[in-house]
Amino acid sequence: MLAHPAHHDIRIDRDRLWSRLTELGEIGAVHGPNGEQGCNRLALTDADRDGRDLVVARMRDLGLTVTIDSIGNVVATRAGTDSDGAPVMTGSHIDTVRTGGRFDGNLGVLAGLEVLESLEQHGVTTRRPIQVAVFTGEEGARFAPDMLGSLVYVGGLALEEALDAQAMDDGARLGDELVRIGYAGPTPCPAPPPFAFVELHIEQGPVLEEHGITIGVVTGVQGISWTEVTITGRSAHAGTTPMRMRRDPVVPAAKIAIEARRLAIEMAGAQVATVGRIEVFPNLINVVAQSVTFDLDLRNTDERLLQQAEAHMTAFVRTVCEQQDCSFDTRALARFEPVSFAAEMIERVERIAGALGNSTLRMPSGAGHDAQMLARVCPTSMIFVPSVNGLSHNIAEFTGPDDVAAGANVLLHTMLELADS
Ligand code: GLV
Ligand code: MN
Ligand code: MN
Repeated sequence: MLAHPAHHDIRIDRDRLWSRLTELGEIGAVHGPNGEQGCNRLALTDADRDGRDLVVARMRDLGLTVTIDSIGNVVATRAGTDSDGAPVMTGSHIDTVRTGGRFDGNLGVLAGLEVLESLEQHGVTTRRPIQVAVFTGEEGARFAPDMLGSLVYVGGLALEEALDAQAMDDGARLGDELVRIGYAGPTPCPAPPPFAFVELHIEQGPVLEEHGITIGVVTGVQGISWTEVTITGRSAHAGTTPMRMRRDPVVPAAKIAIEARRLAIEMAGAQVATVGRIEVFPNLINVVAQSVTFDLDLRNTDERLLQQAEAHMTAFVRTVCEQQDCSFDTRALARFEPVSFAAEMIERVERIAGALGNSTLRMPSGAGHDAQMLARVCPTSMIFVPSVNGLSHNIAEFTGPDDVAAGANVLLHTMLELADS
């Protein structure tokens, strides 16, 4: 049941939320051959700035207090009647991958604002303040680690270290990019912990759709291991250099990508492995490469198995580089252990989703989320809604308006209950 007899009947405005998603989706829009529309809003680019400007304008329209902190996180606050109460927080991110969708992250932010707009419209006051956050650089696609803004927010990464992060695409310094786009704010970060945190997000995978379920009750997030590997050989002429004389770094890089896939399939269970970025230098048709830099993304819900996968890949990298007479270097980009959300928060989301008439399924998250960082400092949970064809990090990413609204209503009632507790 819902804990709030007085507010039982309140629902968010489905069409208004959908139009906000459409509006934000226009910023950094990218199009596919079949008319799909996605987003390219890499962290701290001009498109990210334009998206932030739009969201901040909406926050101000709602009369919310808006702060920007020293890592660029934007937090909007609606006051509660108890001015000393720690706030109930929701939020997510609006940065995307280069060929991302219109829902990943955007939904969590805009649904949070829709919750506040609905409370305003229905004249509902809450005991605790309610906050909606836009965290900086969740994707990690331009600046590593992923979930960077929320990690600094909870004190998990020193501000100075985060500001010194270098962009993987153009080498820009994160702190300089924040200043450039006007989002190096004065509010101190890390910040005091919220009372609780709950994030609505698209599932980004196939499970809910396959089971015909509307709401995923997220039990935690799997562990993430990101390593950058640079293999150096010797550049040489592609036509004249006999095969026996080559030290070609593309060969071990290719073998490593294949081994990562083989290993994940062999380990089965939750293990996944990806090589999603490869940069070859000098990247020319008639030059045996001098070096290759690539990223290895390993994930598992089980920390012990994730460590096994890491150890296997480390040994494999050494062996194949030796075989090809190449040297190598590795750099940790991100390493987060699996996270379990608070049992009482999981139960709360499940109960409320059910009371609103939704089918529910408990599930771990395969993707990283800001909620996993907030879970370090306060009771946290997440709400998932289905992704059509399980697609995400793809411009065709889609979740229909009814599922979006169902998730936002679970968010509304979860936050209402928390804000009066
Ligand atoms: C970040 O969203 C990730 O899971 O890669
Ligand atoms: Mn996301
Ligand atoms: Mn993402």
